[in-house]
Amino acid sequence: MVSRVPTGIPGLDELIGGGLVQKSTTIVEGGPGSGKSIFCMQFLVAGLLQGESCLFISFEETTEHVLQDLRDFPWDLQKSVDSGKLQVTYYTPEQVNQLLETGGGLIHDQLEGMNARRLVIDSLTAFSLLYPRELERRRALFSLFEAVRRWGCTSLMTLESDPEREERRALSTEFEADSVILLYNQKREHLRERSLEVLKMRGSAHTNRILPMKITSSGILVYPKESVF
Ligand SMILES: Nc1ncnc2c1ncn2[C@@H]1O[C@H](COP(=O)(O)OP(=O)(O)OP(=O)(O)O)[C@@H](O)[C@H]1O
Ligand SMILES: [Mg+2]
Repeated sequence: MVSRVPTGIPGLDELIGGGLVQKSTTIVEGGPGSGKSIFCMQFLVAGLLQGESCLFISFEETTEHVLQDLRDFPWDLQKSVDSGKLQVTYYTPEQVNQLLETGGGLIHDQLEGMNARRLVIDSLTAFSLLYPRELERRRALFSLFEAVRRWGCTSLMTLESDPEREERRALSTEFEADSVILLYNQKREHLRERSLEVLKMRGSAHTNRILPMKITSSGILVYPKESVF
């Protein structure tokens, strides 16, 4: 039987066979403000609570900025950073370029040094913007995925998508990942409603319902018994 890794999102694990498959790669995709970064940090917090070491790599915001944005959640991230269990690392685009040329050795060393079990990369979009040409971009994303698999953590990577696009067109990155979780923040008349969809999860029987979701002061929640439609 495959080992499962709890997501830390209340209500979700029971709908995906107990959690994410250990060492799998998951894309967390959604529009601006849909909750991607919160989802990812909450996943790491679940690991921290089990005593696991976790790495959050930001391609977009500085370490201070990432921690600052999440300071209101009751996670005491600074404490985990101070104890070394959580590392939040910002890589500039130039550093990322170098990283890939060396096969991601620097990240590998970092993960190994801290014996990390969970990894977040926020975001693939920021990363892929380094490569204006489609072919180059695909190659770079492919090597990143290869590296992430080699590193052997249970990994989440965020991806920005256009929430207004009616017809979803599958992105090539989605084929690379073992799982894809979509976060929505849809307009309904005069307000917006959040929801979560498990688009795919290799090796798992998972719900095909779109689940109502909330971001509260204690983090993201989904309602496993309710449906959006
Ligand atoms: N304490 C809180 N209580 C409720 N909702 C919150 C709280 N803090 C943030 N939010 C909601 O979460 C949203 C931000 O979530 P998050 O940063 O995870 O989004 P994102 O998908 O990563 O966005 P981006 O694409 O800009 O990086 C805010 O726009 C706000 O609606
Ligand atoms: Mg974000």
